[in-house]
Amino acid sequence: MFAKRTHWNLAPNRLSEALAAHRAAGKPLLDLTVSNPTECGFEYDGSAILDALRNPAALHYEPNPKGLESARRAVAGYYADRKEEVPSEDIFLTTSTSEAYSYVFRTLCDPGDELLIPSPSYPLIDFLADIQDVSLVRYPLIYDHGWQIDFHALEQAITPRTRGVIVVHPNNPTGHFTKRAEIATLNSICSAREMAIIADEVFLDFALVGGRPASFAANRGAPTFTLSGLSKISGLPQMKAAWLIASGSQQWKREALARLEVIADAYLSVNAPVQLAIPSFLERRHAFQRQVLSRVRRNLAELDRRLAAQKACSRLTVEGGWCAVLRVPGVSHREPHHPRYGLCAGDGQCARRFEVRMTHFLRRSRHATHYKDFFGAS
Ligand SMILES: Cc1ncc(COP(=O)(O)O)c(C=O)c1O
Repeated sequence: MFAKRTHWNLAPNRLSEALAAHRAAGKPLLDLTVSNPTECGFEYDGSAILDALRNPAALHYEPNPKGLESARRAVAGYYADRKEEVPSEDIFLTTSTSEAYSYVFRTLCDPGDELLIPSPSYPLIDFLADIQDVSLVRYPLIYDHGWQIDFHALEQAITPRTRGVIVVHPNNPTGHFTKRAEIATLNSICSAREMAIIADEVFLDFALVGGRPASFAANRGAPTFTLSGLSKISGLPQMKAAWLIASGSQQWKREALARLEVIADAYLSVNAPVQLAIPSFLERRHAFQRQVLSRVRRNLAELDRRLAAQKACSRLTVEGGWCAVLRVPGVSHREPHHPRYGLCAGDGQCARRFEVRMTHFLRRSRHATHYKDFFGAS
């Protein structure tokens, strides 16, 4: 009686079983893949956050498909601080970046239409696409002294059903930004074929090297949807506040905004207290981001110090975000494997615990090919 799209294999995999057994035995656990900032020991101004939710204006219901003007102006202000001009009328508030993805998928794609997605990248996009009946087609990222888009493969992957290209900027877990020249190439590919760019920028503010990378939010070189939100920017995933911005030619944008408005109006999903608190939550980002960036830099330095003591593993270049990707010797001697390692989880302890797990991993990997799932599953 159920839809085929929900016919998922929900049986726990070996990693979840091992994790459950470990937890059930009451053993200590330091999760190197943790990405929930509220569990990583950062300091939040709890009273300011809760006070922001006590706005008496929340007693009135003002249904607006795009979200409250005051909140959208605050989001436009966030981009103005980055020297990017984003009109507040081009912004839709959503409860999460995931919800923003679903609005975009619904706006662009009929069932079975395709979107190109980087590989490797953020695994949740697969489920979001599944639920919306969208087919994802992967385009590879190449690592050669830094990550870059394989444009040849990307163009080969385009079919008459391709509606757009997803970029994660910076990507999770590779931590690389889309470079200006790559943005220009994406613009020419997408504008020539009436495809959209869908840019996920949840980690945009966490640049570790170089200057401030440009956002896609003001990109007018191709139809563009830019997604971001407070879960990473201010470290407040529990507040469920995110947004979606349309940019491109005036004519395209007008049509995109009108269609999005119908979708958003059907849900009106963002609650009033959170919308009213968005200006304050955005303001809190500075204190949060300072802590994350200093933690990530410290953990990277500790990781590098540990890696320097051996020759088997190396760290790939990371430009931004909260993850490091390591190159380790090939499992079953076929190809190198790249486990992901969370950088904001613990202060230095992570790197020490990592060393133990990596030693264990290397010892086991000579005998057990399946063991790569242990690291790949995060
Ligand atoms: C690249 C990327 N996009 C989107 C999200 C989800 O963001 P949200 O909590 O706003 O749905 C995450 C969460 O980890 C992420 O890593």
